[in-house]
Amino acid sequence: MQIIIVKDKEELAEKAISFLLKRVSNLTIPVLGLATGSTPIKLYAKMVEAYKQNNISFNHTKTFNLDEYVGLPKSHPNSFHYYMKHHLFTHVDISTKNTFLPNGLTKDPDLECLRYEQMIKKFGAIDLQILGLGVNGHIGFNEPGTSFHTRTHVVQLNEVTRQTNSKHFQSISEVPMKAITMGIGTIMDSKEILLLVSGKEKRTIIKKALYDKITIDIPASVLQYHPNVHVIVDEAAAKYI
Ligand code: F6R
Repeated sequence: MQIIIVKDKEELAEKAISFLLKRVSNLTIPVLGLATGSTPIKLYAKMVEAYKQNNISFNHTKTFNLDEYVGLPKSHPNSFHYYMKHHLFTHVDISTKNTFLPNGLTKDPDLECLRYEQMIKKFGAIDLQILGLGVNGHIGFNEPGTSFHTRTHVVQLNEVTRQTNSKHFQSISEVPMKAITMGIGTIMDSKEILLLVSGKEKRTIIKKALYDKITIDIPASVLQYHPNVHVIVDEAAAKYI
């Protein structure tokens, strides 16, 4: 595992974009795994900037998002479909048919999970998966206690996560109770993983995830088993590592 400590969010995004550009430039059809949340926003802005400066084209890129809330329409400002359009997809040359997110409005969530897994398999595997880290150690929406073997599945969101994410909603009662997320097994099948961690509220959990024992109580600790993980952490989050 490679751990890179950077000064702040800006430097984190700079390191992340140069990492991503290097990886993508070697691939004919890059398959990217994407995260939402506050941490990768600056990285997406840098991807847009790189595209506008002709340093990258997303013409042949396929993207798979980690997760989506169940019950929110794609047009809802808190849906991850909306987030991705807003921060990345509408600003670069990626075709909608090459961007995949779980359908949170499906009538049959279990079937949707299977379909999503099959779509990923159709393209082989995710070349580079971008991850953020939940304050409770979740990756995707895989909450503490999730088996390391899970594939894409429906989750009941834990109260810590609903509380944390309620800052984006009017009130906690509006935060969906469920989501569809890639499983930990799905994430671990990615060829390479880039974990981005920023802010002092992540200091304790990042230390546990990277250096303490591997346990389903800290889902991100599973990354210690992955042969190709890079972690970019800002100083605020890196206090104990
Ligand atoms: C987002 C996701 C989550 C976030 C995590 C960190 O698609 O799957 O695991 O990466 O909750 O979120 P932020 O970056 O907002 O701290």
